[in-house]
Amino acid sequence: MIRVAVIGAGYWGPNVIRTLHELPNCDLAAVCDRSPGRLQYIAERFAGVPLTTEVADILHDPSIDAVAIVTPVSTHRLLAEAALAAGKHVFVEKPLAHTVADAEAMVSAAERAGRVLAVGHLFLYHPAVVRLREAVHAGELGTLCYAESGRVNLGPPASEVDVIWDLAVHDIAILLSLLGSEPVEVACERRRYVHPSLTDVAFITLRFAGGFLAQHHVSWLSPVRVRRFSLSGTAGAAVFDDTRTEGKLLLTDKGEDSRIAGAAGTGELFYRPGVVRVPELGTAQPLAAELSHFLDCIREGRRPLADGHAGLAVVRVLERASRG
Ligand SMILES: NC(=O)c1ccc[n+]([C@@H]2O[C@H](COP(=O)([O-])OP(=O)(O)OC[C@H]3O[C@@H](n4cnc5c(N)ncnc54)[C@H](O)[C@@H]3O)[C@@H](O)[C@H]2O)c1
Repeated sequence: MIRVAVIGAGYWGPNVIRTLHELPNCDLAAVCDRSPGRLQYIAERFAGVPLTTEVADILHDPSIDAVAIVTPVSTHRLLAEAALAAGKHVFVEKPLAHTVADAEAMVSAAERAGRVLAVGHLFLYHPAVVRLREAVHAGELGTLCYAESGRVNLGPPASEVDVIWDLAVHDIAILLSLLGSEPVEVACERRRYVHPSLTDVAFITLRFAGGFLAQHHVSWLSPVRVRRFSLSGTAGAAVFDDTRTEGKLLLTDKGEDSRIAGAAGTGELFYRPGVVRVPELGTAQPLAAELSHFLDCIREGRRPLADGHAGLAVVRVLERASRG
């Protein structure tokens, strides 16, 4: 039984709290939020869970093994460093931090403390992305050529980070985990159309050594919700559409086209698009898979799939996109 406390019970915190509460071999040890109203909300839904407005109560409790930090990004470094210094394993919601300097400090703090540091790159644990990773590693798509993604919706009314840090973080985390490398160039066209102070639309282009190219579009201005990530290779392509209820992941072969090679010959000239396959996906809930993996890593002394280094790599790209 691993005893985990959650800091932050705002919009996303209750999802983490409920998931930890339901996971076997996990004891939801406490919930901390500096707002008593948020604690009242938790008390009404999770009877008997100890509640506190003081982070120190959690850090000074030696029976607590780990902490999940589900607070705004500006607080991540301070809370994570304090928890690691108190000997706790730490899960931090995405993005790991708002600057490379903060993310690097958190990675170093985890290494010094010898504790697990995981970052909430939720989509790495989505069954469609798990299957896509298998397809990439098995060479089903051939040599990877390019990726494109669209993640748009109406913006959150109150966010301390712009649309790049709010939305592109997900697609960049997916991409870096599939490629296992970081871009050599990051370019970004961004605009602030409606929001009083923050970028609300961006087109981010990443160029990788070897020629791989990626383009990510994010927007808070779209009344239509889009969640689409596609990846093309020399032998096929994949499309992950998280708005679909069925067939969230489509895989295709590379199709056939006799028009180029056969142009001067006597045979029929034809074009056939790739045959679409809809692979069976696991049924795991991404958040349960993510948190359960965090607990396994604590038990087995392993590095999480989305560890501090993975979180830092994503922050490096986001920071370059914010400047580019
Ligand atoms: N994985 C996902 O899909 C996903 C979705 C939404 C949010 N998030 C992430 O979750 C984190 C929280 O986002 P949110 O939308 O829930 O924010 P929020 O502002 O709704 O909630 C944050 C809560 O943290 C509390 N808090 C802040 N500082 C505190 C402190 N020092 N001690 C105790 N409590 C403190 C606040 O009182 C608030 O209730 C962010 O990192 C965000 O990016 C992830």
